[in-house]
Amino acid sequence: MAKLIDGKAIAKDIRNQIKNEIRELKQNYPNFSPRLAIIQVGGREDSTCYVRQKEKAAKEVGIEFMLHKKADSITESELLTSIRELNDNPTIHGFLVQLPLPSHINEKNVVETISPKKDVDGFHAINLGNLAKRNCEPLFLPCTPKGILELLKRSGIKISGKHAVVIGRSDIVGFPVFTLLSRSDATVTLCHSKTENLPELIKTADILIVAIGKAGFVKGEWIKPGTVVIDVGTNAIEDSSKQSGVRWVGDVEFSSASAVASHISPVPGGVGPMTVAMLLQNTVESAKRFLQ
Ligand code: GUN
Repeated sequence: MAKLIDGKAIAKDIRNQIKNEIRELKQNYPNFSPRLAIIQVGGREDSTCYVRQKEKAAKEVGIEFMLHKKADSITESELLTSIRELNDNPTIHGFLVQLPLPSHINEKNVVETISPKKDVDGFHAINLGNLAKRNCEPLFLPCTPKGILELLKRSGIKISGKHAVVIGRSDIVGFPVFTLLSRSDATVTLCHSKTENLPELIKTADILIVAIGKAGFVKGEWIKPGTVVIDVGTNAIEDSSKQSGVRWVGDVEFSSASAVASHISPVPGGVGPMTVAMLLQNTVESAKRFLQ
């Protein structure tokens, strides 16, 4: 049976470290607090839930949190004005606009208006571009990819020289994970919806990262015994036995994969809590840069 990569426990350790770091910062700079803001457009239930998780985690470690709620009907131009106000507000060290946005708003225009210096999501083209270029350092790493690398490192998994297979090529997860693993000297294969012979490629992985958003897509029989499996999927499955009516499952069929993998991250309790912990870490890194 695979060893469980307990993202919940690892994220808790990281949040405790951040809490201590902020306590020290506040001792050295008595009137100073790291400050994070989120703009949420509309009232999507899933976004409200994610924003609440970020707010709770931020407050628990001593980060001041500001939520800017906007109506669904806000125009793109009004939203861009709000973003520029946060860019210019010296008391805010990092902020993000919760995605997805209503269809009348161009997401790219929104993300590219956020100052790269406050882009704690790490989604701005300047930050992602610097991540893609060798010998360049982005100001922020995107939270989920950063959290995945942290999970691997804190679980004592050797990356250098290993063959990593990443499934999914999104700007937010697949592509930056590909780049970070390559920077850690893995040999990386980036797969996507047009990849042929996916099960055969998966079979060659020492480290497998799955981020495609299809419940239980990767089967245990596709996985080489001893592979390290990181499941980034969070798919809601209807389940009347649950109070919420849904059950969360990953992109990997956990029962069969955990019988062959050496390590596996569960869903929930794997990558998810790490994403929030990395957002807090990015906010503190940013706040410290503002102090310099
Ligand atoms: N929606 C779901 N996850 C995220 C995230 O990490 N950042 C933003 N801005 N929106 C999201």
